[in-house]
Amino acid sequence: MSLPSKIFLIAGLAGVLILPAARGQKPEVDAQGHRWWQHAVFYEIYPRSFADSNGDGIGDLDGITSKLDYLKALGVDAIWITPFFPSPQVDFGYDVSDYQAIDPMYGTMADFDKLSAESKKRNIRLILDFVVNHTSDRHKWFLDSKSSRTAEHRDWYIWRDGKSPGQPPNNWLSTFGLSAWKYDPSTKQYYYHYFYPEQPDLNWRNPAVEKAMFDTTRFWYKRGVSGFRLDAVDTMFEDPNLKDNPPAPGTDKFGRPNTVEKYNKKLPEIHLALQRLRKVADEYNAVLIGETWTSDVSQLREYYGAHNNELQLPMDLLLNGLPFSADAYRKHVAAVDSSGGWPVYVITNHDIVRSYTRYADGKHNDEIAKLMAAFYLTLRGTAIMYYGEELGMENNDPKSRDEVQDPVGKLSWPTDKGRDGERTPMQWTPGRNAGFTQAKPWLPVPPSAETHNVVTEEANPDSILSVYKKLLAMRHDEPALVEGDYRSVNNDDPNVFAYLRRFKNEALLVVLNFSNARQSVKFDLGAQGLASAKTRTALASGASRAGKDTITLEPFGFHIEKMTL
Ligand code: GLC
Ligand code: CA
Repeated sequence: MSLPSKIFLIAGLAGVLILPAARGQKPEVDAQGHRWWQHAVFYEIYPRSFADSNGDGIGDLDGITSKLDYLKALGVDAIWITPFFPSPQVDFGYDVSDYQAIDPMYGTMADFDKLSAESKKRNIRLILDFVVNHTSDRHKWFLDSKSSRTAEHRDWYIWRDGKSPGQPPNNWLSTFGLSAWKYDPSTKQYYYHYFYPEQPDLNWRNPAVEKAMFDTTRFWYKRGVSGFRLDAVDTMFEDPNLKDNPPAPGTDKFGRPNTVEKYNKKLPEIHLALQRLRKVADEYNAVLIGETWTSDVSQLREYYGAHNNELQLPMDLLLNGLPFSADAYRKHVAAVDSSGGWPVYVITNHDIVRSYTRYADGKHNDEIAKLMAAFYLTLRGTAIMYYGEELGMENNDPKSRDEVQDPVGKLSWPTDKGRDGERTPMQWTPGRNAGFTQAKPWLPVPPSAETHNVVTEEANPDSILSVYKKLLAMRHDEPALVEGDYRSVNNDDPNVFAYLRRFKNEALLVVLNFSNARQSVKFDLGAQGLASAKTRTALASGASRAGKDTITLEPFGFHIEKMTL
């Protein structure tokens, strides 16, 4: 074990010794000093699109409750549900108008409590989405803030005079297009919004904002929630002097000249706020996951906190942007695994093109989906899945601008078609609406739902779903996957990426063919002290053993070998 991870372990232990395990749950800390969230498989649910229980074409909380047995059988330990709070739905729930209630479109607080109780019965934890950067412009705080320059909540948001008549305070841009400033004619000032104008940024420099937001987390912890995924943490703070961002070469997808987001992103103050938020989370033994879009691994490392006192699980979203290659993944995993923070791997979510579509080559799409699963689900760290990933759901992008629901897709059409494509209904069955709803679904299902759905794939032992189930079972049952360290065993092969996960007298050798050609590989595991180990194939797809130590892999095949000393 490397020194930083030792330190992490000790810090982790120190923080939890006094905290009792919740009723009916496994102990909070295992013999290796690991917390439940280090071994858990998280599963992201976009509630609009998971299961519609009341026939309005939109998914809801009861829909999720009805599918908990499916999630349990799949091997999921915790679900992160994206926002289901009251919202005008401009950004489909990421514009929250009340943090402590349920949008009627998704159900009631009683439905939430039922979901919570049913999840608990199955030992599935609930993680909610916490939209920290902004509220809806219909939130009562903003309505008051906007009402006058002297209103109680005026300073809960970021209001400024224009630079000169008709000119916004500075050159900051909204990530969803146009300026980041909106003029309010009645109070004659501009307010700042990094996202849509309907999502005014909160002023985290105001202690009253911090208190109200922290109290929101307490409200949900007391209702049994195990943690939060923090939305858009990178943008929580802005430079108080509102300095202009420096220009950068080229233009963005909206055709605007690029700038470096130096003064409105990743400000150091974020870390202090996260440390305080973490203290509240620790009172409830909760976990904080971060939507952390970082530019490199050292920036990602900062989100854990210098003393592992910020986010336990900042997502490694860098993985999504890497070229699909053995070499790129090998280098990245080596960097993340040795960085000293507990890794958090994610390959797809509700904001990016689905992994199935992103990695597809048109010929081996399903094999590639299985390979990616065998890759990120066997690494040391926590995995966060996205609903439908386990089926090989593909993006189903709008065919015309008129069909687009995600406002950003309208603005950037056709360069970018928005995020509807990765948010289509979960594919439960073949046939009408993929079994998601009795009504017209809010987004259309693609033709591939006929073959890529739960019912069809459950009947096929070689389906993507079956591979996911086996991998998730291994993640729970194999000590080497649960606790083992990570060691790359072939540093030079440009096609095949292979590594060992080793724990005590057991190891798993994971061999992944990232090329579209057949590959034969041989490993000398004597150097790892495994020469005399007994071996057997634990799981393989498109791969076989040829003789004692040669493994042959078909294009994009993988092989996992179990070794016992
Ligand atoms: C995050 C969410 C995204 C949302 C944005 C604004 O990036 O994942 O869906 O649009 O924040 O809240
Ligand atoms: Ca902000």
